[in-house]
Amino acid sequence: MTTLLRLLLGAGPLLSQLFLSPVHGSDNATLPLVMWHGMGDSCCNPLSMGSIKKMIEEAVPGIDVLSLMIGKTVIQDTENGFFMDVNEQVSMVCSQLAQDPKLKDGYNAMGFSQGGQFLRAVAQRCPSPPMKTLISVGGQQQGVYGLPRCPGESSHICDWIRKELNSGAYTDIVQKHLVQAQYWHDPLNDDLYKKHSLFLADINQERVVNETYKKNLQLLDKFVMVKFLQDSVVDPVDTEVNTGHIVTIS
Ligand SMILES: *[C@@H]1O[C@H](CO)[C@@H](O)[C@H](O)[C@H]1NC(C)=O
Ligand SMILES: *[C@@H]1O[C@H](CO)[C@@H](O)[C@H](O)[C@H]1NC(C)=O
Repeated sequence: MTTLLRLLLGAGPLLSQLFLSPVHGSDNATLPLVMWHGMGDSCCNPLSMGSIKKMIEEAVPGIDVLSLMIGKTVIQDTENGFFMDVNEQVSMVCSQLAQDPKLKDGYNAMGFSQGGQFLRAVAQRCPSPPMKTLISVGGQQQGVYGLPRCPGESSHICDWIRKELNSGAYTDIVQKHLVQAQYWHDPLNDDLYKKHSLFLADINQERVVNETYKKNLQLLDKFVMVKFLQDSVVDPVDTEVNTGHIVTIS
């Protein structure tokens, strides 16, 4: 995560451009920002999301930043990033956002790593309140096929996850209980992926084109995908910008 932080700190000018130009709502108020953390991380880790939140609050005075916590505690939040059905996580977040009075006029969203594709699902499934700009920082929009390294302290969990994925990423039991299986995209078994992927194949419209998803995603003003040039966690790295045939936003 420290690498991520260094990258973001280095990206100061980019960030201020992203936040300073499109952040204003119709009444000129600064739009709030919703962030979704990556795998092995939590809403409030002072070394990652906590300092990113602080950095943005300093760069954009008056902004409300909501760093999503999936679950009731930081520990649950981290565990849910590995084990909680992604579709359930997305619907939890949708109802949280819908109930938040600060977000009623819209918000910008920034997802880190897997949080990038999860927030895209929020945009596609839950148009209200409206998401204006979506920034995916190293999100795996086309899935992963490999998990070379694990962030932070979670290497033992990743060893176990790799074993499960190898034993059958597309079996019902692994799909249901393992977040990373839900965006596992095996290029050599495309039919299996299309048929059994609970999350990614749905939001990437591999089985059917869902006109509602398409329409909702096109409601975004901007969709920014940031790719890490030296990523050692995600394989293949091009998944971070390759949206394949999802939909094109102009
Ligand atoms: C928003 O701010 C700009 C620049 O300060 C101003 O020109 C414009 O009239 C404001 N719009 C509204 C709706 O208040
Ligand atoms: C399309 O997406 C909407 C919104 O999530 C959902 O209600 C609907 O069932 C989906 N339709 C299909 C054909 O998957």
